Amino acid sequence: MQEIYDAIQKSAIVIAEMIAHDDSGYSENQNATGDTQLELDIRSDKVIEEAFAPLTSIKELASEEKEGPHPLHAGGKYLIGYDPLDGSSLADVNLSVGSIFGIYENDYSGKNLKAAVYVVYGPRIEMVTADENGVQLYRVARDNRFHFIRKLSLGTQGKLNAPGGTQKNWAPWHKELIDGFFAEGYRLRYSGGMVPDLHQILIKGGGIFSYPGTSDVPKGKLRKVFEVFPFAFVYEKAGGEAIDGRQRLLDLECAHIHDTTPCFFGSKEEIKKVRNVYANH
Ligand code: AHG
Ligand code: MN
Ligand code: MN
Repeated sequence: MQEIYDAIQKSAIVIAEMIAHDDSGYSENQNATGDTQLELDIRSDKVIEEAFAPLTSIKELASEEKEGPHPLHAGGKYLIGYDPLDGSSLADVNLSVGSIFGIYENDYSGKNLKAAVYVVYGPRIEMVTADENGVQLYRVARDNRFHFIRKLSLGTQGKLNAPGGTQKNWAPWHKELIDGFFAEGYRLRYSGGMVPDLHQILIKGGGIFSYPGTSDVPKGKLRKVFEVFPFAFVYEKAGGEAIDGRQRLLDLECAHIHDTTPCFFGSKEEIKKVRNVYANH
């Protein structure tokens, strides 16, 4: 597993340079979800693919930016599902973006996720790993290398509310849930990048991030393999919970690698409220 983390760190340093200095315009291509890819999406995908290619422990890659799985080493143990540049359209407005990795065995189901990692490219470059050692924060120092900072964990309740999805298309009970958090004094924190939005809640010790199913996209926007399962794993390891409204996200199967699901990530008290509201819908 360490060699996978090392490859992620190596690719992160290159991607951070690209974000800082290179063209952030759109390409002429669309990915499997139908998003028009940015040059930065395509190039980040390539950088990560090249960093993983020599590792014989990796059997296969699946990327948000690739139509199907990309085989590497037949005898490898791990399958890696990744979003090379999450929130990439935010690079243009100079907000934080990220890369997300799920390290799976056998298939891309939630129960077969063995470790998860994400990188935040912001004023600082940080990496968070989640595995049997818990959740750990690393940061790039002046030597251009990642250094361990501290372990991360969530309290049972926080103060931040990050509500995703187009409000006009929310179900009435979802609106009630979100309004209820604000009525209790929660503060709005939503940048439109799930990496910095979920990172903020984790660093501040609690809160709730939601991306529900809506009337226009009943299965939500966020993808199970590349985005949702890895963050569900991080949040659970940090002492929080991650559900689709009713079910634990990591209990979900995955019929197709680009499948999406409604999702809620948070500390225990907030997720209890989500369960109460969604139990009847
Ligand atoms: P990507 O840039 O990889 O397509 O993902 C963007 C995602 C996620 O980061 C964020 O939480 C969500 O899209 C924001 O969607 P809305 O603009 O609908 O809130
Ligand atoms: Mn994404
Ligand atoms: Mn992406």
